[in-house]
Amino acid sequence: MRARLYIAIICAGLILSGSCKRNETETDQSNLKADTMAAITKKSFGTTPEGKEVTEFTLTNKRGVSLSVINYGGIITRLLVPNRKGVLEDIVLGYDSLSGYVKDSPYFGAIVGRYGNRIANGKFTLDGKEYTLAQNNNGQHLHGGVKGFDKVFWNVEEAGANTLRLTYQSKDMEEGYPGNLSVEVTYALTDVNELKISYTATTDKKTIINLTQHSYFNLTGNAKRDILDHELTLYSDKFVPVTKVLIPTGELKDVSGSPFDFRTSTAIGARVNEKDQQLGFGRGYDHCWVLSSPDSMKHAASLYEPVSGRALDVYTTEPAIQFYCGNFLDGSITGKYNVVYSHRYGLCLETEHYPDSPNQKDFPSTELSPGEVYQTQTTYKFSTR
Ligand code: BGC
Repeated sequence: MRARLYIAIICAGLILSGSCKRNETETDQSNLKADTMAAITKKSFGTTPEGKEVTEFTLTNKRGVSLSVINYGGIITRLLVPNRKGVLEDIVLGYDSLSGYVKDSPYFGAIVGRYGNRIANGKFTLDGKEYTLAQNNNGQHLHGGVKGFDKVFWNVEEAGANTLRLTYQSKDMEEGYPGNLSVEVTYALTDVNELKISYTATTDKKTIINLTQHSYFNLTGNAKRDILDHELTLYSDKFVPVTKVLIPTGELKDVSGSPFDFRTSTAIGARVNEKDQQLGFGRGYDHCWVLSSPDSMKHAASLYEPVSGRALDVYTTEPAIQFYCGNFLDGSITGKYNVVYSHRYGLCLETEHYPDSPNQKDFPSTELSPGEVYQTQTTYKFSTR
């Protein structure tokens, strides 16, 4: 693994120093552009109240697409992607400075763990032993607890061309979860405008895990308006109904004939305010859609914003995708570019396991034992049309 990485680094070095010969002129030209643009830069992103300095890393590909990430929460702070005229604009919500992320962020751009989404009453049992987690959301456990992976410092290193490797050692019983957990997340920005994220973890004691990425997308660019005109396809026949505290009932429900049917591209706003018990419980879409082929890479979602022409396709090895349409944004946050994030100004497409899996024996397992390697991959691909 490490040897392969070194070979990749040496090869990247050779390309940059011009030693790798290419035949096609076209390729030569694009590489020339790559020489001047592809790079990872670093700058300070401020200091936490405890006095720890936060660094922002920016990856830029040869088309000018760029991704900025900080070592606090592994947060994606900026993602500049072209519209159909080639204008680069930011398609993720977030804050201008660190203080917003530290004070009270609804998980903007963060790595979420150990468990993405909710666990009923913050309790689960493993091998006959009951564990209690923080009840930080209506008496339920949400997104890893009070100090989840969104609020910890990640060690960040460059891991080859336009790739960052983030690692974190989560201690046994941190936030109530058993086992010392070694976590690695890589963010890779390719020259064909993909953000490839891979998640790996190992434990020394049986535990549970469900990692995800919590970027809020708004493809209008710099969040010009809400996301209700975004057209969404979810490649899924079933979703996971929830109770009024957003815990799965245990049933998997056919989407046919309901506002949850996104098998053909539909504007998010078209049905979000329909009278429907599930939409009522979520205050809109805040549900998990079940994907086919649980472990292999598959197309999970397509999103399109007609004015900018920007499109986003999501592929994942995960068995489900949580689509949350920013129902809890209420105008109380002013984000980047001085934009007030009003109701439904961003949407999340979180690839993951079903919520509350540790308490639902018919859901795919989220247990991880010593000797096993947790490994999942998600690709966000950006394009225009
Ligand atoms: C959840 C929402 C929650 C939001 C937090 C989403 O992943 O599904 O219920 O409010 O995260 O910002």
